Amino acid sequence: MAESRPPWVPPDIDLRTATLARVYDYMLGGAHNFAVDREVADRLERLVPGSIRTAWENRAFLRRAVLYCASLGIDQYLDIGSGIPTGGNVHEVARSVLPTARVVYVDLDPVAVLHSRAILTGDALTGVVQGDLRAPEAILDDPVTRQLIDFERPVAVLLVALLHVIPDSAHPAELLTRLTAGAGPGSHLVISHFGPNYGTPEQVQALVEWSRGTTTPMLARDPAELTALLGDFVPVPPGVVAVHEWKPDPDGPVSDHSGGYAVVARRD
Ligand SMILES: C[S@@+](CC[C@H](N)C(=O)[O-])C[C@H]1O[C@@H](n2cnc3c(N)ncnc32)[C@H](O)[C@@H]1O
Repeated sequence: MAESRPPWVPPDIDLRTATLARVYDYMLGGAHNFAVDREVADRLERLVPGSIRTAWENRAFLRRAVLYCASLGIDQYLDIGSGIPTGGNVHEVARSVLPTARVVYVDLDPVAVLHSRAILTGDALTGVVQGDLRAPEAILDDPVTRQLIDFERPVAVLLVALLHVIPDSAHPAELLTRLTAGAGPGSHLVISHFGPNYGTPEQVQALVEWSRGTTTPMLARDPAELTALLGDFVPVPPGVVAVHEWKPDPDGPVSDHSGGYAVVARRD
């Protein structure tokens, strides 16, 4: 039986096709997902047990990386593939250090855009852009980005759990070069990425093959392949490491689960 349409869902949203943003929302315990998204997430967990925990690990990395950037005084954030708002959004984390931090959230998923706009209404220091990393100039030229981000000052560009859906045929390194062309010295890239450390080689292969039948095929990149995307941005210590190993919280829970790789890199 078809799922009934919740009141918040615009009529043009297809309830029968899963999207990455909604699958991820479900994995993080959010409420903006449909049965089809939950089935995909549950399938992912069956293919590689621990996948749902990986989403939480990724979110914890995002928090630590934003706190790190804010501790350097970076008060502007361009969060691409920002997803459906959940706990610990970038503006909340950054503002715990720098109360006037500005954030532009960018996603191509209409549900992510809708909910980002809903929670940020009235917040003059945040903005939401419906955009596609594969068209970086459109993101940069959007009036919201132009109003909130001053590229002459250091900016943090976030691509968290995103680049693994951008195949080599879309030239991700070139996309990042175009996206950061105007970003000045002291700017940072914050990246996490699905990698061969996600599970056993057989599990990673099974996941990649299964994802080919979904709307967002994924590819694993190893640390060398990830580093090759960074252009002139240089990884800060500890470099490209398993997500949970990037500056772990000394007082946080100890994790042994390597759900991909993470890096924060700086332009001098
Ligand atoms: C796994 S979620 C990650 C959300 C968030 N960055 C985080 O780590 O919590 C990936 C997001 O990227 C978005 N996305 C996928 N391809 C994209 C593209 N080409 N341009 C912009 N966003 C994209 C999806 O809609 C989804 O919301």
